[in-house]
Amino acid sequence: MKKFVLSLMGVFVILSVLLSACGTTPTAAPTQPPSGGQPAQPAEPTAPPAQPAAKQQVEVFSWWTGGGEAAGLEAMIKVFKARYPDIEFINAAVAGGAGTNARAVLASRLQAGDPPDSWQGHAGQELIGTYVAGKQILPLNDLYESEGWLKVMPETLIPLISDNGNIYSVPVNIHRANVLWYNPQILKDNNIEVPTSIEAWFAAMDQLKAAGVTPLALGEQWTKMHLLETVLLGTLGVDAYNGLWTGETDWGSPEVKVALENFAKLLTYANTDSASLSWQDASQLVVNGDAAFNVMGDWAEGYFRELGKTPQVDYGWAPTPGTGGVFQFLSDSFVLAANAPHPESAIAWLKVAGSKEGQEAFNPVKGSICARTDCDKALFGEYLQSAMNDWATNQVVGSLTHGVVANDSWKSEIDTALGLFVQGGNVDSFQAALVAACKSSGPCQ
Ligand code: GAL
Repeated sequence: MKKFVLSLMGVFVILSVLLSACGTTPTAAPTQPPSGGQPAQPAEPTAPPAQPAAKQQVEVFSWWTGGGEAAGLEAMIKVFKARYPDIEFINAAVAGGAGTNARAVLASRLQAGDPPDSWQGHAGQELIGTYVAGKQILPLNDLYESEGWLKVMPETLIPLISDNGNIYSVPVNIHRANVLWYNPQILKDNNIEVPTSIEAWFAAMDQLKAAGVTPLALGEQWTKMHLLETVLLGTLGVDAYNGLWTGETDWGSPEVKVALENFAKLLTYANTDSASLSWQDASQLVVNGDAAFNVMGDWAEGYFRELGKTPQVDYGWAPTPGTGGVFQFLSDSFVLAANAPHPESAIAWLKVAGSKEGQEAFNPVKGSICARTDCDKALFGEYLQSAMNDWATNQVVGSLTHGVVANDSWKSEIDTALGLFVQGGNVDSFQAALVAACKSSGPCQ
């Protein structure tokens, strides 16, 4: 307790220093003559003109630039602008699904000592293993206290954004990774039930392939990692899947080999131009009737809505085969940069990001549910209401692709192994590379 109080004091001191540094912009020279009979002294002819007060700004960095994602962000920015009309919002979003491009840009900005005030980071290992470990962000415990967030954020989420008693980010949402999106009409036309097991899924896709339908829509590399994590979960089950990230499940085991073989087989049902498709391109194939299934996080629902598509008509959803009753989650959160150029404005942004109003504006559009537990369910559509029920009742596990379970170096080794595999490698060497990745960057050291 004492340690916690001390660390809280530490946070307070750091923030006070930052805030006072930001708040003490030199005051402009008085422009009014002093009152009283004496005329004011004439100004020195060489005196510089009074400087206008520095404009308040906040620069917020994310990868939400399109396809339902930008619209969600805009909805939250609108709340910010209404609350803080004097702060200019600089939207520094960099395009590219799952932050593949944005995170590289962010890394070089941080390296160069040019941080945005606040950026998007995933709860879990991405946050703790990268930004906290690199001392790139500041604790927010006092904000949690003043905003009462400990009472409204899920208890299970706090450890994933904390280190040593300090809380480091403000979660804006909960997303689900293990969603199987399907085209209801295609399944109906081919007399296919929504598959709940991987075997039933293969059988359905064999039938679709024979009927000349593209069974599975797939996109660029990170969407393949996303597919892989859901297949690992669907094949191994919750305990063995969780064990992959703690060292309890052997990456070299026959069970993992079965999962990788399942993954390899799945790839054979996919469109051949996957490497050049974004996640939006791939998920759109399903709602346009050009493919039967797509595995993607529920940001796809935000996109489908933006396209004007109707739930249960243009798209249906189910847990990815083999993962019924399990919610594979991730959470987007925003941080306060150490050395933020505008720390006071960054705190204002974080207050909106953690607020009920901000989250209720953002999430129904983004295709996610609130991180807060007190959002009004009636604001959400049919899919998101079902996600809320599942989040409350399912077993919860973390996502690999979206930062929860593995740190960046481990994830990047897995990504390299995956890249080689999809370019024509075999399952045995893929598995050997995954074993090696756990040994060099994961808990198998
Ligand atoms: C995830 C992120 C989501 C969504 C998705 C696709 O990593 O958590 O909010 O943006 O990428 O870009």
